[in-house]
Amino acid sequence: MSAVTILGIETSCDETAAAVVTLSRGKMTVRHEAVASQAKLHAKYGGVVPEVAARKQVEAIIPILREVRVRPADIDAIAVTAGPGLVTSLSVGVETAKVLSLAWRKPLLPINHVLAHLYATWLSHPQLVRREASYRPAVGFVISGGHTELVLLKGHGAYALLGRTLDDAAGECLDKSARLLGLPYPGGAALERLARRGRPDAVSFPQPLAHSRELSFSFSGLKTAVRYELERHPAATPRRRADVAASIQAAVVNHLCRRLDGALAQTRAKAVLIGGGVTANETVRLGLAAVAGRHGVPLLLPNRPWTGDNAAMVAAAGLYRWRSLTAAARRRALGTWKSLSAEPNWEL
Ligand code: KG4
Ligand code: ZN
Repeated sequence: MSAVTILGIETSCDETAAAVVTLSRGKMTVRHEAVASQAKLHAKYGGVVPEVAARKQVEAIIPILREVRVRPADIDAIAVTAGPGLVTSLSVGVETAKVLSLAWRKPLLPINHVLAHLYATWLSHPQLVRREASYRPAVGFVISGGHTELVLLKGHGAYALLGRTLDDAAGECLDKSARLLGLPYPGGAALERLARRGRPDAVSFPQPLAHSRELSFSFSGLKTAVRYELERHPAATPRRRADVAASIQAAVVNHLCRRLDGALAQTRAKAVLIGGGVTANETVRLGLAAVAGRHGVPLLLPNRPWTGDNAAMVAAAGLYRWRSLTAAARRRALGTWKSLSAEPNWEL
């Protein structure tokens, strides 16, 4: 199969990212990638302020595209995150991609951000690119600040939703708990550092949806339980803060692990692919790897630069989308710019 090169653009939340990725002879190569993060800016507000994020993305998008040195002659198509996410942020990437598609006469491929997170594992594991069929069907597990979703991946573009959160996402729960402990936004990574010195069994938080056999998640009760716990017994000492952090983390990991266990029991999948910002967490990685190990299947993790939002994963998703299209569908993608708009609520 001939080489394919895709430009990926990602602006669904507060990052502005672009990447150029090539798939050639069963090998995926990230040629260039760049990301402008706004984490410090939003830490001031304790969360992402959509209008502020989009305004900064408008400033960042052209420098980021220059940084990845993209030239129209080098690429086959443009892949852009079209949803889900913040509509103002998504629009920056989508409108930029539409202009490039029109000006350069390149096909435009809208990509789902949640699904794109799983393509970070393709970037990280050459054997997945080379011997895909031996990993199918796979359970895909996206655990991020905005999403907690389990899907069954039967092939590229062929997937079924197994379960998702009924309320908050896992990352959101960790961020809100971190905030209650006085840690800066986004608190997931800081909470993990604090938790290293704590005892995970110091506080026993309730197991969400403990009696449900469905693959749904719920994290809002956990967040409320953290608030009550801290109101009853304030985290006055460093020791106590670390204990509370470790206990929250354990409750979140436990919930994630039980659902992965259920998904593997139901589907008899051959592998687990995970993605999303929370999968940078060592306790999450170890917990999920243990569950996969008990089912005798491999757990494929994204390398750390690609756990959070990035454009290389969007380009990788675009590569496989491009490969799956017929010649006629590729020609039609030249006109996608006419009708594409951001889809903030795009569900898998
Ligand atoms: O995938 P991502 O960058 O953005 C979304 O699509 O949401 O995920 C961001 C989330 C935040 O909630 C952040 O606190 C969490 O990932 N996160 C972590 C860690 N690093 C980032 N959570 C736990 N432990 C970490 N080390
Ligand atoms: Zn994300």
